[in-house]
Amino acid sequence: MTSDSRSAIEARVSAKIASLSAEQLKLVEKGARIIRRGGLVAFPTETVYGLGADALNTDAVAAIYETKGRPSDNPLILHVSSIAMAEGVVEINARARILMEKFWPGPLSLVLPAKDVVPSRTRGGLSTAAVRMPDAAIALALIEKSGLPIAAPSANVSGRPSPTDAETVRSDIGAKIPLVIDGGDTRFGVESTVIDMTAGRAVLLRPGGLSKEAIEGALGEEVLLPQDQNIIRRSPGTRYRHYAPSLPLVLCCAQDVPKGARRWAWMGISEPQGEPCAKMIFKDKAEYAKELFRALRALEKSGAEIIYAETPDETGIGRALKDRLLRASGK
Ligand code: TXA
Ligand code: MG
Repeated sequence: MTSDSRSAIEARVSAKIASLSAEQLKLVEKGARIIRRGGLVAFPTETVYGLGADALNTDAVAAIYETKGRPSDNPLILHVSSIAMAEGVVEINARARILMEKFWPGPLSLVLPAKDVVPSRTRGGLSTAAVRMPDAAIALALIEKSGLPIAAPSANVSGRPSPTDAETVRSDIGAKIPLVIDGGDTRFGVESTVIDMTAGRAVLLRPGGLSKEAIEGALGEEVLLPQDQNIIRRSPGTRYRHYAPSLPLVLCCAQDVPKGARRWAWMGISEPQGEPCAKMIFKDKAEYAKELFRALRALEKSGAEIIYAETPDETGIGRALKDRLLRASGK
């Protein structure tokens, strides 16, 4: 990476942090003190809210797993506020640098060989670690003021839809942690894209806020899917049922919602045929993705017995959206 592009990233980060109000900064400083003491803080990123702790402190990281009820072999993403901080925790190769330069800060997590300072607990026992630079002022300021990489999974109870607003975080885990920083609704609504950059070819471990097409454009090569090769490079997280609403969810088209006696709710971009007891209609795929997790939680309370969700096409953000819908449906 040239020193120019490194300083371009630094300039973007500083401008973001400078946009915070004095009140927000005070909360961030309080959060940073909690993180440095080994405590937990929930905070907004551009994707979903994260449950953060000092990534280099084994006990702090153990508390994340405990609070979420998360399986201990599912590794955490390390959130950084500078390239230097990323270099402190992983071995960065030339192709990973291209992606950092182009997409950081942003919804892209890169899996790279971990350095010894990263506790095994943070890595879920793997030799690699995922790093990302979030594109949200509060998150960047919290990392910078802590002076530490922050390990942060989504701030929900394991298995529940990820939280995209502070109220949902409070209702899921608020009673168990000292601070939830409120930054309003998150911009993307689905988590970051996770790419394995440890081998010759990039592998998409989890589709997310940054599209596969955008990454392919930057690298000038096709990004593989885990099933494209006989490699077992998978994201441990994808083994678990995620994003489960408390009602059954079924994907279908607006024209062929199954007819039956059950009260049903609808979510999608098109108007459904038939009479749902509740519906959420979005203007496009981006809004569908942004509102997805909140819509799942809202429709659970609508009195419906089943949720029908419109199947999106798989281009751009549609790939991540469809992935989350399939998981919510138990597929
Ligand atoms: O947008 C996001 O990524 C949010 C916000 C808070 O930054 N975080 C998030 O974290 O979604 P979490 O823990 O819910 O998901 C992390 C994903 C999991 O699927 C995990 O298995 C994968 O990243 N992951 C982390 N480290 C990995 C590694 N070394 N190798 C393979 N997959 C890894
Ligand atoms: Mg999660």
